[in-house]
Amino acid sequence: MTAKEQGRRFVVGNWKMHGLRADLAEAKAIAMEHGGLADRVDAGLCLPATLLGDAVGALRGLPLLLGGQDCHMEEQGAFTGDVSARMISDLGAALVIVGHSERRQYHGETDAQILAKARAARAAGLHPIICIGETEPERDAGQTLDRLAVQIEDGVPEDFAPNDFTIAYEPVWAIGTGRTPSTDEIAEAHAFIHERARTRLRADASPRVLYGGSAKPENAAELFSIDAVNGALVGGASLKAQSFIKIVRTAAQL
Ligand code: PGA
Repeated sequence: MTAKEQGRRFVVGNWKMHGLRADLAEAKAIAMEHGGLADRVDAGLCLPATLLGDAVGALRGLPLLLGGQDCHMEEQGAFTGDVSARMISDLGAALVIVGHSERRQYHGETDAQILAKARAARAAGLHPIICIGETEPERDAGQTLDRLAVQIEDGVPEDFAPNDFTIAYEPVWAIGTGRTPSTDEIAEAHAFIHERARTRLRADASPRVLYGGSAKPENAAELFSIDAVNGALVGGASLKAQSFIKIVRTAAQL
């Protein structure tokens, strides 16, 4: 992404393990609507790997970015069931999520693996979205910022440029629960992430930092009113064009 795009908000949908080919109609509707807003806001959809090739074909020529939800750190090899960054890029996709908390939780992914995946994504020409965030016990114990610091130090490649990637701050306890941190808590976490990312990259600028965790049309205006929030990573509310496009529209307006 260019420095000019850096100033714009970025709204990304994460379909997780949802969606059959018939649901590409929703992706198409999202892409068409976003087409009219693309001069003001960047948007993307991270789809199941099974849909990605068809989606690239169906959405050709539209500015909506498409992406995968995970990639292996190796280019190829004996890793049954895994998908490499190069395979995702070969389909014509532009993005890939790495380090989502569901990968950390259910697949035991570590920060070291996430760093290697982010590097593999860049090497394949993809723009990685690196997810970080504290669990509920960590927040309750007052360890949120410490946890974020470790995830940035160990999971973000220090030789990346700020425009090479995006960070998504997703408090684990806010994902899919309908609960969100307060505006002050989000502002504090985002300001901290920007500062730590600049330090890690030894750069004057930081990557865009998206908020994720129960983002929806009803709270989008509040989220985007926070200065250090550069967009959103949206799960449940991205499955239907109607709700996702409302969030994209709000990001374009504010
Ligand atoms: P949610 O998921 O919007 O359904 O909470 C966000 C995410 O996990 O990326």
